[in-house]
Amino acid sequence: MNILVTAGPTREAIDPVRFISNRSSGKMGYAVAEAARDRGHEVHLVSGPVALPPPDGVSIRRVVSAEDMLRAIEAELPWCDALVMAAAVADWRPRAPAAAKLKKTRMPLTLDLEPAPDILATIAACKGGRIFVGFAAETGAPEEEALRKLKAKRLDLIVANDVSRPDAGFDVDTNVVTMISAAEAAISLPMQSKRAVGEWIVTWIEERARICRR
Ligand code: CTP
Repeated sequence: MNILVTAGPTREAIDPVRFISNRSSGKMGYAVAEAARDRGHEVHLVSGPVALPPPDGVSIRRVVSAEDMLRAIEAELPWCDALVMAAAVADWRPRAPAAAKLKKTRMPLTLDLEPAPDILATIAACKGGRIFVGFAAETGAPEEEALRKLKAKRLDLIVANDVSRPDAGFDVDTNVVTMISAAEAAISLPMQSKRAVGEWIVTWIEERARICRR
């Protein structure tokens, strides 16, 4: 299969030297990309700014903002059979980024934010027969919110995790996730490496593709 994976945060410019971002390290998305590659799939990775080395054998496109990531995904989508949206895309961005560095003497400073594009919501209309997997990053019981996002974003699978746990979420090598799909019972996985979680996700996609071909 051709599998498109997104990873990492996005950065939304305030001025030429400052931005709004989040704590995503990209580890979960890179782990999915590597797991899919090792199973023989053709993998395209769209990555926000992260400190990780590019995985061998994976084609990578680097992006900065939510808008850039949306454009990169729209370009790659026609060729892919499945999309795994592990990126932590910004929800808001400064409405009018300053062209020159803002001086600290400019006080009080209020940032005027507007919604950043919701990538999954934007591309939902072009889904066709593709398999879409999303992530739900929550603080506290994630399942209920994840189910809402699964339906709202027309996903086939959503991988929910509680990012307030020390062994899950941002910047650690392990994760504790529940995989929720519309058709099957939820699968709660014990704490394991992000690479092992990536393998679960790739297996789920392969199985779903097999069912769809029948
Ligand atoms: N996502 C997206 N575009 C955004 C924000 C999120 O495509 N602007 C995707 C993420 O990559 C993830 C899924 O939507 O796969 C859910 O992201 P999450 O941050 O958990 O939820 P939000 O949609 O941002 O909703 P909320 O802020 O209410 O948690």
